[in-house]
Amino acid sequence: MKKALCLAAGFASLASALTISEINGNKFLSPYNGQTVANVSGIVTAKGPDGLWIRSTKPDKDDKTSESIYVFGRAFATNLTVGDSIVIGGKVQEYRSNKDYIYLTELSSPTLQEKVSTGNVVKTLVIGKDTLDPPTEQFSSLDGGDIFAVPNNVSLVSVANPVLNPKKYGLDFWESLTGELVTVRKPKAIAKPNSFGDTWVAGDWKVTGRNGRGGLTMTDKDANPETMLIGSPLDGSSNPTSTKLGDSLEDITGVVTYAFGFYRILPTTNLKVTKSAQPALPASTKLLSSGKCDGLTFGAYNIENLAPNSSHLPTIATHIVEYLKSPDLVFLQEVQDDNGPTNDAVVSANLTLTTLIQAIASAGGPTYAYADIDPVDDQDGGQPGGNIRVAYLYNPTLLRLYKPNPGSSTDANEVLPGPTLKYNPGRIDPSNPAWTASRKPLVAQWEVLTPPKKKTSTFFTVNVHFGSKGGSSSLHGDARPPVNGGVEDRIAQAQLTASFIKDILNQDKDARIVAAGDFNEFVFVEPLQQFTSISGLKDLDAVAGIRETERYTYLFDMNTQQLDHMFVSKKLQSKAKYEHVHINTWVDFGAQVSDHDPSVAKCDVCA
Ligand SMILES: *[C@@H]1O[C@H](CO)[C@@H](O)[C@H](O)[C@H]1NC(C)=O
Ligand SMILES: *[C@@H]1O[C@H](CO)[C@@H](O)[C@H](O)[C@H]1NC(C)=O
Ligand SMILES: *[C@@H]1O[C@H](CO)[C@@H](O)[C@H](O)[C@H]1NC(C)=O
Ligand SMILES: *[C@@H]1O[C@H](CO)[C@@H](O)[C@H](O)[C@H]1NC(C)=O
Ligand SMILES: *[C@@H]1O[C@H](CO)[C@@H](O)[C@H](O)[C@H]1NC(C)=O
Repeated sequence: MKKALCLAAGFASLASALTISEINGNKFLSPYNGQTVANVSGIVTAKGPDGLWIRSTKPDKDDKTSESIYVFGRAFATNLTVGDSIVIGGKVQEYRSNKDYIYLTELSSPTLQEKVSTGNVVKTLVIGKDTLDPPTEQFSSLDGGDIFAVPNNVSLVSVANPVLNPKKYGLDFWESLTGELVTVRKPKAIAKPNSFGDTWVAGDWKVTGRNGRGGLTMTDKDANPETMLIGSPLDGSSNPTSTKLGDSLEDITGVVTYAFGFYRILPTTNLKVTKSAQPALPASTKLLSSGKCDGLTFGAYNIENLAPNSSHLPTIATHIVEYLKSPDLVFLQEVQDDNGPTNDAVVSANLTLTTLIQAIASAGGPTYAYADIDPVDDQDGGQPGGNIRVAYLYNPTLLRLYKPNPGSSTDANEVLPGPTLKYNPGRIDPSNPAWTASRKPLVAQWEVLTPPKKKTSTFFTVNVHFGSKGGSSSLHGDARPPVNGGVEDRIAQAQLTASFIKDILNQDKDARIVAAGDFNEFVFVEPLQQFTSISGLKDLDAVAGIRETERYTYLFDMNTQQLDHMFVSKKLQSKAKYEHVHINTWVDFGAQVSDHDPSVAKCDVCA
């Protein structure tokens, strides 16, 4: 009804009445999308390679409406300078380069009606001072309170087009500032830049999830919407690519826009690091093996596509010896076959694992033995030809497989009375469709070589590498809640793995079980919620009392986050200790050896 009245009022008077905030409106999409407008007054606040940004000379007081807009037109911008006060016409357009993104409102095909004056003072809005504070928990009203809720993609910003609530929702906050020239005071890098130098930061406003390194850790229902991506500088300079998590930066001034799936600030010039995060490297683990069953150490490390000739192999060996202090048993993920990504029929990883074992021994570690099961060629996902699998390294002076009877690639392991395993080690239900193009968990039963008298000396381990999050949509994307790629697979994988563990505990409620690896999921999201509730295992981070903000092994977009976990059965909980060793998340991209941090635990397996 309102729309009909507006149209009836006539084009010319409608156009002459429009301010920039009216063009932007109080929602994500402009109420004037597709319409030609004129007599729009603004002052040029910034210039970019393909256009410029103007701020209204007639601002309103509504926090929901941006007073600035991007004017797209390279030629149009050439004769204009920051500080020019202009009157222009053009076409209101909602632009996105991909259908999964949020639209940016812009003025296209601009025409200069009048240059009113030059040399006007351009003020920048200091975020958190001249604006509201960025919301710290929720991204969008359309997420229903949980950005990780399953099912996801139940609504689209571009369709629902909600009225902005910039006090409560992060996307609404940044949308309400699109086009504005803003300043981020005392920014801290909370991630590593991508190859273009794009870097996530948080300024001097209130944040949640801050960890000891300066990053922001994702927690239940909170993926840190108070953060902002800094994109390419407007002056053609380049951002540094060696910035590290926790580095301090010079104040950043730039314009708020949306591109490539994220709200972002395009700075007027490149970022400068003022203080590098210290110490440069984390300390080694303090968890040392007692050399007996009362203090065995367990390491877990996704070693990122390790092949025999990988250039990162010697450093992985050094990490295991120097930073993890040579755990008695190591859960590895992403061990490739003997010729790595060469795509042929080779599936054995003997050479890969023996090369790693030799490198560990050369670095001063023990001479480990290994246990793995070759996958069926090309059936377990990952880099084509690599045949990645999970594998164990174990110290054979302390441990051995209990009554070894390795299963084949296709043998489904079973729990037998005892409990013992039908195959030791053996894979969980490898032909189940839940594992299509994914790694099958490897279950093993171990015994300590010199157990104390009359004490149980065997324990079980489950080494997992669940399906990846590939296909996820951006946290700043159109789909709400964002698409969590592969979540249905991970739910099925979690159910199968947890049921197997439950079978062991049904035989012996005191069974000692450690399940560890790269679960490719956060502990508060559906797959792992189901995993813990079905299996009865406990999250070792919680058991060991690690602060929530320090629970991270991975960096993705704006969040330090935890994809790698250990879960333990009741019997192992009383004296359990656990540490994440941030050897890869802390260093710059060039110095990173794997995309995951390793972890170490210490448990009494004969308690
Ligand atoms: C712009 O504003 C002027 C003065 O208010 C008015 O005369 C003119 O018709 C407007 N132009 C357009 C295209 O609306
Ligand atoms: C910019 O100014 C020059 C010199 O006055 C003029 O020749 C040119 O046409 C102008 N360009 C635009 C896009 O207005
Ligand atoms: C390792 O060997 C494979 C062939 O087996 C080759 O394709 C690859 O480039 C080599 N990688 C390195 C790092 O030398
Ligand atoms: C594994 O590799 C080692 C050293 O490269 C070799 O001595 C051994 O025979 C291999 N074992 C198997 C089962 O292929
Ligand atoms: C979300 O769902 C819509 C259909 O409602 C679909 O068009 C779109 O591709 C989905 N987005 C993603 C990222 O899968």
